[in-house]
Parts: sequence; structure tokens; C-alpha cells
Amino acid sequence: MSQAWSTRFETSLNPFIQEFNASIKFDKTLIIEDIDCSIAHARMLGQQHVITKEESLKIIKGLNEIKIDYQKGIFEPSFPSEDIHYAIENLLICKIGDLGKKLHTGRSRNDQVGTDIRIWLRKKINEIDALLFSFQKSLLKIAQQNINVLIPGYTHLQRAQPLSLSHHILAYLEMFQRDRDRLREVQNRVNISPLGAAALAGTKINIDRYMTAQELGFKTIYMNSIDAVSDRDFAIEFLSSSSLIMTHLSRLSEEIIFWVTDEFAFADLTDSCATGSSLMPQKKNPDVPELIRGKTGRVFGHLQGLLTTLKGLPLAYNKDLQEDKEPIFDTAKTVSDSLKAMTILFDEGLKFNDDNLMRSVENDFSNATDVADYLVNKGVAFREAYQIVGSIVMFCLSKKILFKELSLDEFKEYHNAFDEDIYENILPKNVVNSRNSVGGTSFSRVQEELLRWNNRLLN
Ligand code: ARG
Repeated sequence: MSQAWSTRFETSLNPFIQEFNASIKFDKTLIIEDIDCSIAHARMLGQQHVITKEESLKIIKGLNEIKIDYQKGIFEPSFPSEDIHYAIENLLICKIGDLGKKLHTGRSRNDQVGTDIRIWLRKKINEIDALLFSFQKSLLKIAQQNINVLIPGYTHLQRAQPLSLSHHILAYLEMFQRDRDRLREVQNRVNISPLGAAALAGTKINIDRYMTAQELGFKTIYMNSIDAVSDRDFAIEFLSSSSLIMTHLSRLSEEIIFWVTDEFAFADLTDSCATGSSLMPQKKNPDVPELIRGKTGRVFGHLQGLLTTLKGLPLAYNKDLQEDKEPIFDTAKTVSDSLKAMTILFDEGLKFNDDNLMRSVENDFSNATDVADYLVNKGVAFREAYQIVGSIVMFCLSKKILFKELSLDEFKEYHNAFDEDIYENILPKNVVNSRNSVGGTSFSRVQEELLRWNNRLLN
């Protein structure tokens, strides 16, 4: 039952080797796709008069019954079936008798498994895209609520220039949009049918590859049968795009982790999204972003793993390719779960501490560029202004004061062009609002961007 190829062999497989060889434990994930693939194949065989219409309909009926049995929990594919393809074929033969043996005419498990995995992945990519979309909407909502909240902007993780919190959040919206665009690209290459390539060379059976491709919703078909059964580029591309999604989630996680420290105190975690310590009663831990950051490594590992699996493979199908499934399955689940968790975090888990954020930008030198730009506006060359402000910073540091605490006379000692309006110019909200270049953080630019995103995501 479990070995369709047994007549060529004199003895049966060593039991450990039999288990080692089997993929049923994980490729049973493809059960629905495998049945759909077989239904399309059987219908095509009937249409092409390879089998009679009646035979075709009986096979399809049997396959549909298997699907229902599975959905009702009556049938669960398992070892000792070698893989999902044999499991379904064997069950079909049990159900409808010898006619079931005609199903595999003109195809191989090589083109079959390639078809199944592409159908499965195509669905997952759509699901991940939908999750990215709802996460973007959650981010947009937070951005809309925080235009006037300021946050220190960093370079080298040193205070650089203040930002509108919305502008900071909108940066992530851009990143996740690129992820969605990339997935759409990948989908084009997932959505190509290898079915009918058979083992590697095509078949002499009078099949219609376009018919099965159309029934299974593929946009087009592989034009080279060898490439069709050996290509896993689409899987690598999926793992690579997923790695970038995880990279973006991980960078955001890292920021959240330090935002909620006592040292930063830019945000707090709500009880529904934070965890405690078994020992230290005061602790509130950011496990969710930490886990997302951690899971990123595992997705990178899958990408590296599959690249390595593929790099030495001669054409065409090699059993090594059975190793493509677990990384693909695990990556789809990890990316989906991470996106869901991060969306919940933004919907209910993160409360920005506006007062602390505002206070933090009032008490630093992140308006130093603006003091220099002030002089530039009065005709001083930028490099000269830069050096003057450097000296002012040094003076302030020695006195442990900020720019706003300098008297106008003290300012004037450094340059005569300083006037009363310098104080207005270095207020954080004016500092932010003055960065009005396209793509900058000024309130009106951010408003424009919010509107653009609103139209893009919500209309
Ligand atoms: N379980 C196999 C896989 O996942 C199916 C294809 C087997 N093909 C073969 N020629 N042994 O790749």
C-alpha cells in the first residue's frame, strides 16, 4: 500500500529508511491542493479522451469524497504512506477500485508536488498581503493620532533632530508597502503551472497543459519541462521577501523594546500585551516584540537553508527538493503570526507617553542645526555657522544649560546676527515644522502624506 514502486524491488525498505524517506508528516499540509490538482488532471484526461468521460467523473467523485472525509476528520493522511500524493492515490484506489490506478496517467509526483506547493503558496501570499494591509491600516491610525506629538530623531542612536511621531510611523508604512509590492512580484512567478512536465521530459500521453493550468487558476505554464520540475526560485524569492518583512518587523520591535524601557519611557505596554517575570514582581516585559525579533533569525535561516539545498543540484528533480516544504510552511506561519501579533500590539498594546516624548525634545541640543540655519538665513556661510554653533554647544555644556537658557547678549557674543526671534526658532515644534522640504517632517508635509496614505489604503 505504501510503496507504489515495490514490484521492481525484491525486499522491502528498511523500516528506519522508510521513515527517513517519508514526507507525509509535513506534506500532508498540501492535502487540499493535492486533491484539487488531481481533480483538474482527471478532468483533463477525460476531456482529452485519455480515459473515458465516465471514468473521469468517477475519479473526480472519489477525490471529492476524500476531501469531504478529510474535512469531516474521517480521514487523516499518515505514515506508512510515503507522501501525500501516494496517500491520496491509495485511498482513491480503496474507494473506487482499479479505476483509481488510471489517475496517475501522464504525470509524475515531480510535477504534481511542484503544482501543489505553488497553489498552497499562492494562497499564503494573498493571506500575508492581507495581514500586511491591515497592519498598515493600524499604523496609519496611530500616525493620524500623533501628528503633533514630537519624538527625538536619532542617527547613530544619538539625538539628531526632533520629528513628528507620525512621520516616524509613516516610515514603517513605506517599508511595509515595499514588502507588499515585492510579494506581488513574487506571486507572478509562483503562479506558473509545472503540471504536465511529468517526470522531467514531458509525456507522450495526449495531455492539455493549458486546461489544467486554467482550472487551477495559474496565469501561465512553464515552457521547459526540465525547468518546471526543478525550479524552486519562486520559493527562494518567497523566503527572501519574507526575510525582509521580518527585518522590518524586527527593526520596529527593537525600537519598541527601547521605547518601553525606564531609560527612554516613550511608551508603555498595556497589560494585554505584556508579560511578567516569575521572580521579579515589578517587571513588565516586552515579550511580543522580543519574540518577533527572535523569530526573524529563524526565517533568515530558512532562506539560507534552501539556498544551500539548491546550489549544488543538477537538473532535474532530486529528492533534496523534498526539503523545500518545511522552510516554506514554517516561514509562512512565522510571518503571518508575527504580523498578527504586531498588529494587536499597535491596536491595543502600546500607549505613547506624550508628555515624556515632548519633554525629551525640549531638553537636548537637537535644535543645534536650527541655530546654524538661523545664521545661514542671515547670510552667514553654513560651514562658518556650523562652527559658531559648535562653540555655543561647548559653552552650554560647560555651564550645564540649554540654548534656550542663553541670554541674547550671550548669543550675540558668538555672532551679531542673533536677535530675539532666535528663541522662537529653536522651539521644538517650530524646529519640526520648519523642515518643509518634500518628504520632510513639517506638520503640513506629514498631513499631506497622511492624506495620501488614507486615499491609498482606505478608499
Ligand atoms: N515527496 C516528494 C517531494 O516532496 C514528492 C516527489 C517525489 N518524486 C520522486 N521522484 N521521488 O519532493
